[in-house]
Amino acid sequence: MAGATTGAVARKLAPTPTILVFDSGLGGLTVLEQVRRARPDAAYVYAADDAAFPYGRLSEPVLVERVLTVMDRLISLHAPDLVVVACNTASTLVLPALRQRFVTPFVGVVPPIKPAAEATRSRVVSLLATPGTVARAYTHELVETYASACAVTLVGAPNLAGFAEAELAGSPVDDAALAREIAPCFVTLEDGRRTDVVCLACTHYPLLLPRFQALAPWPVTWIDPAPAIARRVMQLLGPGDRNAPDAAPVFGAFTGGAGLTAPLRRSLAARGVGGIAVEAMPLGLQ
Ligand code: DGL
Repeated sequence: MAGATTGAVARKLAPTPTILVFDSGLGGLTVLEQVRRARPDAAYVYAADDAAFPYGRLSEPVLVERVLTVMDRLISLHAPDLVVVACNTASTLVLPALRQRFVTPFVGVVPPIKPAAEATRSRVVSLLATPGTVARAYTHELVETYASACAVTLVGAPNLAGFAEAELAGSPVDDAALAREIAPCFVTLEDGRRTDVVCLACTHYPLLLPRFQALAPWPVTWIDPAPAIARRVMQLLGPGDRNAPDAAPVFGAFTGGAGLTAPLRRSLAARGVGGIAVEAMPLGLQ
């Protein structure tokens, strides 16, 4: 379920925890925003494995190996008190291996199927995700467990995460291309019932939400798991001092850095990501 974690954090935590938010690219910024709102006093590292973006195209064994390798480096560099894996494509696959390898607690982001099943009235729900997340056994089990009474359409969008990155870097894609990616989410059944809830099961997609809303053929409820993730982080680390001023700008760590153009740096700065470092970790696959 969204925000599943290792359970209670047993070890003693520093009063100002360091939280590392990790994604393949920029999608995790949507989770970072909510977590920072919940714990403004914490220190943050935002880590993007942009050298391997998009994760949606990687095979499962390659993705597991990649995330373990990158996480190993990030944990030794930044010694976080908690890691948020702000990536459905990774969390639906890699969390067990991460928890086995590291003592650091992990909070994962997985498709918000349970809240979607609770919110739908028509019982026609769509899950918009990367092709990787849609293919996962974990995703299929979630649907089976929480939404067996619903007609669920799994939509693996091939290009949306890249479109969201382009949007943030100041080069938005046109409406027609975006509409094509979300079109399969809008389903009308033979009995006339139609989709009324769409799960945003990729952390990149909330970056495009205003555009989805404008392009949707009919209004639906879009479910973003980020606020639930922030609540889970608070459960694990405690509420901290909610009135404290932000501890410091977020430190951005990129494994590639090729896309760090001036407009993107401005966009990152506007989202509180101050210092940026490139810790080169080429994917080394091709
Ligand atoms: N942000 C990632 C997610 O939540 C995926 C993007 C990618 O394919 O790398 O699934």
